[in-house]
Amino acid sequence: MKVFIIYAHPSEDSFTRHVRERFIEGLEAAGHSYLISDLYKMGFRTDMTESEYLREANYDDDAPLPDDVIAEQNKINASNAIVFIYPVFWTEAPAKLVGWFDRVWTYGFAYGDESIGMKQLDKGLVICVAGRSLYHLTHYGHLDAMKTVMLGDRLCDRVKYKDFIVLDGMSKYAMIAREANWDRNLDIAYEAGFTLEYLGQSMRITKKQLLWNGVNLALKIIDKEPNKIVVVNSDTPIICDGQSALDFTLYIGYDHNCQRIVVNKAAISEDFFRLSTGVAGEVGQKLVNYGVRLAIVGDFSGYTSKPLHDYIYECNKGNHLYFTSDENEAVKMIGR
Ligand SMILES: Cc1cc2nc3c(=O)[nH]c(=O)nc-3n(C[C@H](O)[C@H](O)[C@H](O)COP(=O)(O)O)c2cc1C
Repeated sequence: MKVFIIYAHPSEDSFTRHVRERFIEGLEAAGHSYLISDLYKMGFRTDMTESEYLREANYDDDAPLPDDVIAEQNKINASNAIVFIYPVFWTEAPAKLVGWFDRVWTYGFAYGDESIGMKQLDKGLVICVAGRSLYHLTHYGHLDAMKTVMLGDRLCDRVKYKDFIVLDGMSKYAMIAREANWDRNLDIAYEAGFTLEYLGQSMRITKKQLLWNGVNLALKIIDKEPNKIVVVNSDTPIICDGQSALDFTLYIGYDHNCQRIVVNKAAISEDFFRLSTGVAGEVGQKLVNYGVRLAIVGDFSGYTSKPLHDYIYECNKGNHLYFTSDENEAVKMIGR
C-alpha cells in the first residue's frame, strides 16, 4: 500500500515524534511505502485567505486552488491509505492540522454535488497522543467528541475502513505515568503500522519466525473468522517440487491448523514457472489432493510464456492455486 501520513507536532522533542518513527517502522516491516507531510516542518500555511474562503462559501469550484493545496490533494490521490499523527490539544488536533482540513478539503475535491476529485481511500487511521488517561477522555465525553469530528465528519466515507487510536497518559505533568506508558504506546504505534492493511477486517494477526530446512521465514498468522491464513515471506525458494510443497503445506497445516497459505514469489522455485518442467502441475495436484489453498504473490508480468499466463488465468478461477501481485488481494482470494 501507499500510505500518506499527515504529521503535526511543533517539536521533535516530543513523544509524538517517537510515535511517528515507530509507526513508520511498522509500515516498512509490512512492506508499505509512504509519503509524509510534516506540517510544522513544511511551514504549511493553515489560515485561509479571503479568496479561499469565498471559493468554499460560494461553492465555486471554478475558482483556482493554491499550489500547496493542490500538492496535498495530489498526495492523497496517489495513496491507498491516509494516516494522521498528532498530539491532542484542547480535545482537538493542533490548529496546524485543523487548518490543513480547512484548506485541503475543498469544494469539488472532498465534497460537492457532482464529480468529487478525491478518490475513496481504502484505510484511514487517526493516531493521537493524549496527556489524559483513556478513562478520563471517555468519562468526560472527550473521546467521543474527537472521534465524531475526525472519523464521523472529516474522514466520513472518504475512506472505506477507519479507526481512531489514542495513546494515552503521556502528559509531562505526570512523568511517572508517561514513562510507564511509553513502551506500551510505542508498541501500539508499531502494530498499527504493521497491520494497517487489515484495518476494518476484524482480524487478529501474530508474527513469528520459522527456520525451515535452514531458511529463515517470516510468518504472519491471520486469524479471520472462519479461516486462518498464514502469510510466508522467504528470500529463498522453499517450494521446488510436489514433495517440498506437500511437506511445507502439511507442516503449516499441522502447526497452525490452517490450510490457506500465501507465499511470496521468491519462495517458489523458478522451475515452477517453466511449465515444461512439470513442477507447477505436480504442486497443483498435491494442493488438490490435500485440500490446501496456496496463493503466490509477485510480479508475473516478466514471463513471456502464453501458456503460463493462461495457466495463471485458469488457476485464479479455481479453488487451490492463486496468483496476484498484491498480498492483501491474496488474503482476500484465499479467504473466500
Ligand atoms: C496546548 C495544549 C493543549 C493540550 N490539551 C490536551 C487535551 O485537551 N487533552 C489531553 O489529553 N492532552 C492535552 N495536552 C497534552 C498533549 O496531548 C501532550 O503534548 C502529549 O500528551 C504529550 O506528548 P508529546 O510529548 O508528544 O507532546 C495538551 C497539550 C498542549 C501543549
